[in-house]
Amino acid sequence: MPSGSDASRWIADRMRHIEISGIRRVFELGRALKDPINLSIGQPDFDVPEAIKSAARQAIDAGFNGYTVTQGIPDLRKKLQAMVAGQYPGSDRQVLVTGGTSGGLVLAICSTVNPGDEVIVFDPYFVMYPHAVTLAGGTTVFVDTYPDFDIDLDRVRAAMTRRTKALIVNSPNNPTGRVYRRETLRDLALLCRERGVLLLSDEVYRAFTYDAPFCSPAEFNEDVLVFDGFSKTYGMTGWRLGYVHGPRRLIEEMTKLQQFTFVCAPSIVQHAAVTALDTDMSATIENYRRKRDRIVQGLKGHYDLARAQGAFYLFAAAPGGKATAFVEEAVRNNLLLIPGTAFSQRDSHFRLSYAATDETLDKGIEALSRLARR
Ligand SMILES: Cc1ncc(COP(=O)(O)O)c(C=O)c1O
Repeated sequence: MPSGSDASRWIADRMRHIEISGIRRVFELGRALKDPINLSIGQPDFDVPEAIKSAARQAIDAGFNGYTVTQGIPDLRKKLQAMVAGQYPGSDRQVLVTGGTSGGLVLAICSTVNPGDEVIVFDPYFVMYPHAVTLAGGTTVFVDTYPDFDIDLDRVRAAMTRRTKALIVNSPNNPTGRVYRRETLRDLALLCRERGVLLLSDEVYRAFTYDAPFCSPAEFNEDVLVFDGFSKTYGMTGWRLGYVHGPRRLIEEMTKLQQFTFVCAPSIVQHAAVTALDTDMSATIENYRRKRDRIVQGLKGHYDLARAQGAFYLFAAAPGGKATAFVEEAVRNNLLLIPGTAFSQRDSHFRLSYAATDETLDKGIEALSRLARR
């Protein structure tokens, strides 16, 4: 067989605008370390609760190993549908079960964004948003939220044009840990309605809201498309299950696209998720609140962390001002963090994940305090 042909000639132009995640780069750097203090990971440090694992095993043994209907198995969908109807009484929100929250986001963006459309994304942002917009042929318009990572509606208004099709909001937020105020989400939801912009609300961290009741912009605008999932709440990131709810017409289009792409979410996991919805995670969430308090308290005086209100991240200004250089220095000190450039147009902050054991957090506090004193 001849070898050495240039396979790159077959790669689509859009892939040139999709880069390897800055998070993966830190993993590469960290690979050389023997026993790093790892505060870079965006997934819970707890295992899937036993009842959910057992439900998955039973689903396999019972033979639920084939395709499911693309919308999701009736038992799960009925349960989610009832939950959503309880949260948004009087609305006609429809549910679609998806391959993770990410799967739902891709379906939604590909079903709504035309080439040339603009999608507003707050900076810093979750890594996949701009790439999903690129995939659909759209353009991402960043709205800067530095220095306090709050949403400034005047900046949003200034970013809106005739081509604005959608806006993505994420609260609790990855990477800032910020939870937006109820009034902010209400004003954003009403602004989107007034301007005819589709609001996409990524609520995958809704369970990890520590200081105030969770609030969704969908409470104020029935057209908001909501993305949620089981990854973070139940520690099952590898099981790939999420769901979307929103206007019937959009859910129909997304269902059509799922049918001809991902087909359905994993059958076994859908069966286990019925049990997950009956599993009380409040003690685990309380433990994460304690972790948040532990790390914020431990780093007080060294870093400004006043806004860590949810998810399991802190986003702090890097001592010296350059996050990439700071993170490289941290790696040399056996500590893994993510530079803000993975989530932002700026290189001023770093992300720390406190989804780690208390012992790791204490080592991290010690290392970060030392680095700040230099
Ligand atoms: C804000 C945000 N949205 C979505 C996801 C993806 O979640 P899932 O595992 O459900 O696809 C993540 C994962 O890190 C996230 O941080």
